Amino acid sequence: MKLLVTGGAGFIGSNFILYWMNKYPNDSIVNLDKLTYAGNLESLRKVENQKNYRFIKGDICDADAVRIAMHKVDLVVHFAAESHVDRSILGPAVFMMTNVVGTQTLLDAALQAKVKHFHHVSTDEVFGTLKLGSKEKFHEQSQYNPRSPYSASKAASDHLVRAYRTTYGLPITITNCSNNFGPYQFPEKLIPLATTNLLEGKKVPVYGEGNQVRDWLYVSDHCRAIDLVVKKGKNGETYCIGGQMDGVTNLQVVKKIAKLLGKDQSAIEFVKDRPGHDLRYAMDWTKIHRELGWKPEHDFDTWLAKTVVWYKQNTDWWKRVKSGEYQEYYQKQYRNR
Ligand code: NAD
Ligand code: DAU
Repeated sequence: MKLLVTGGAGFIGSNFILYWMNKYPNDSIVNLDKLTYAGNLESLRKVENQKNYRFIKGDICDADAVRIAMHKVDLVVHFAAESHVDRSILGPAVFMMTNVVGTQTLLDAALQAKVKHFHHVSTDEVFGTLKLGSKEKFHEQSQYNPRSPYSASKAASDHLVRAYRTTYGLPITITNCSNNFGPYQFPEKLIPLATTNLLEGKKVPVYGEGNQVRDWLYVSDHCRAIDLVVKKGKNGETYCIGGQMDGVTNLQVVKKIAKLLGKDQSAIEFVKDRPGHDLRYAMDWTKIHRELGWKPEHDFDTWLAKTVVWYKQNTDWWKRVKSGEYQEYYQKQYRNR
């Protein structure tokens, strides 16, 4: 089978390529990635010289690049996106371009190339926010209620993907997943930001009082879920994916990381809250469990500790990533908070 993976130089995309090439060595993968600030080919060192792997530097909004990348492809797994909520607040335009127009460009090319299956990787953020302290969870029938430019652009892309099936008969599946963590995550996101700041002797900015809750999932559990959906999922269906636990606050996450690195609470700095901050996410993954037998297998505490060790052991990877453009972003994002 030949796969087109978009955004394969990013956090989840690179983990997915490593996972897939290890599990299905007879398949071939084309990785189409623009290499924005978030794309890093160093994450793919282990596979870059393999004959069944090819990298194409290109923009998913560029119809010609997409057409070439789609040649003789059986399955598209679409990760490419602008993915950081805070950046979408600072500058929404690129989110609309990549996440909406880019997805539509890919869908057109997939129709023309008659690909057998288009899988769209989406987020729980399209459903909005849950009350703190409630037991409520998002599920496949939850109403869309995006509240940031990022989640609004992802919601639009989900609707487009479904519309291409209804209107043109393109075979599709969608997964909506909760917050991932693990190796190769860009250090603008909470867990790698906290870990690398602490390793550099800097403070960790916690928004508001840090009482927001995320449904953390180790990245390889997400890759395995996508694997099951693309192999066994039903055409046109959506599957919600989430972690093993519910209720850990951002402050507790940061305290756990500080403890793992032998730091005390003086390393935590409370800063101005994110505008429109979603309070709580929690995913009900009953459907994918019942229909495809998936469940998260990596518990948060053990795999958080392993992730922190990975960042400790891979300082070259994140130090290079944290230079240049990232410094400018960091100053802009945190200077008046
Ligand atoms: P990321 O920001 O780490 O990586 C995004 C990748 O897309 C980068 O390699 C970047 O270069 C590439 N890219 C961006 N714009 C592009 C364009 N116009 N053309 C081609 N490539 C482009 O993102 P991630 O965290 O790996 O997320 C991947 C996908 O999963 C996204 O669609 C995101 O919405 C979704 N998702 C992420 C999470 C999470 O917790 N990180 C959870 C649920 C869903
Ligand atoms: O839920 C899935 C989503 O998870 C994905 O769709 C997004 O692509 C991904 O970025 C992530 O979004 P979040 O906004 O939840 O992730 P982030 O790591 O930015 O923030 C996690 C929580 O930590 C959130 O409540 C905001 C808070 N936070 C974040 C940063 C960067 C802080 O308190 N301080 C910080 O410096």
